[in-house]
Amino acid sequence: MSDVASISISHLTVKFGGLTALDDVFLSIAPNTIVGLIGPNGAGKTTIFNAISGLLTPTSGEISIAGKESKWPASHELVDFGISRTLQGVGLFSGLTVLENVMMGADINRGSNFAKDLLGLSGRAEAKLKRKALDALAWAGALDMADKMPSKLTYPETKRVSIARALVSEPKVLLLDEPAAGLGQDDIDKFAALLKQLKKRCAIIIVEHHVDFIGEISDQVYVLNFGKVIASGTFDRVKRDPAVLAAYLGTSHQTGTDQLGASHA
Ligand SMILES: Nc1ncnc2c1ncn2[C@@H]1O[C@H](COP(=O)(O)OP(=O)(O)OP(=O)(O)O)[C@@H](O)[C@H]1O
Ligand SMILES: [Mg+2]
Repeated sequence: MSDVASISISHLTVKFGGLTALDDVFLSIAPNTIVGLIGPNGAGKTTIFNAISGLLTPTSGEISIAGKESKWPASHELVDFGISRTLQGVGLFSGLTVLENVMMGADINRGSNFAKDLLGLSGRAEAKLKRKALDALAWAGALDMADKMPSKLTYPETKRVSIARALVSEPKVLLLDEPAAGLGQDDIDKFAALLKQLKKRCAIIIVEHHVDFIGEISDQVYVLNFGKVIASGTFDRVKRDPAVLAAYLGTSHQTGTDQLGASHA
C-alpha cells in the first residue's frame, strides 16, 4: 500500500463576504484510513466538504489528490478525481427500487441526467452498472434491500442505501457529512462496524457530532473551531487537548454524549 495521501489540503481559506469560514486549514488523509472532523456548530466542517467536492471555490489554498497537486475539483469532475460524498437532503426516488436508486448514484455523482443516460446505455453497459451497484450495496451491508421500494425501508436502512449510492462510482475517498444523525445507539454501533469494513475499500472523511462514534472509528481526528484546526491526531490525544476541551465546554448547544469533555476527559 502506498503512503501517498489520498487527499492533502494546505492553506485552505474560505471567506463568505466578511466571514472567514475556514482559515488556513491543513488536512491530510492516508489511503484506507478514516479521518474524523469534529467541532462545534458553524466551525467550518461542511465548508471543508464543499471545497473538496466543488460546491464552492476556495478563497485560497491547495489540494493534492493521490500525491499530485491538483486544481480544486468541480462537482461534475468528482468521479474522475475519485471522490464521492453522500448527498444530504437528496432522498431516494420513490418510484425506483433500491438497486435502481443506487445505479443512479453513478450518474448523480457525475452531475448528469440519469434518465437520459440510462435509456442510452447498451445492455452490456447496463449490466456492468448493475454489477457495480450490487457490489456497492454489498459493501454498505444492504444487498438484501436491492429489490425493495424505498418506502419499505427503515430509516437506518436508507442511510446504508445512501452510502451504497455514493460507493457506486468506486471512489478512492468518501466524504460523509453527519451519516449517523438521527440513529439510535444500536444502529450507530452497527454503522461503526460497517465503516471499519469500508475503509478497506476507500479512505473516509467523516463529519459527526457523535463524538463517541468518531472516537471509535477514526484513525485521525481534526478538531475545528471558528474555521481553524485547533487540534489533530489520534482521538485519545485530541480529547485531552486543553484547546479542544475549552472549545467544547464553551458551547452550550451540544448535549449529552455529544459533549467531549463530560464523558471522555
Ligand atoms: N454559503 C454560505 N454563505 C455564507 N456563509 C456560510 C455559507 N456556508 C457556510 N457559511 C458559514 O460558514 C461557517 C461555517 O459553516 P459550516 O456549515 O461549514 O459549519 P459546520 O461546522 O458544518 O456546522 P454544523 O455542525 O452546524 O453543520 C458558519 O458561520 C456558516 O454560517
Ligand atoms: Mg455542517
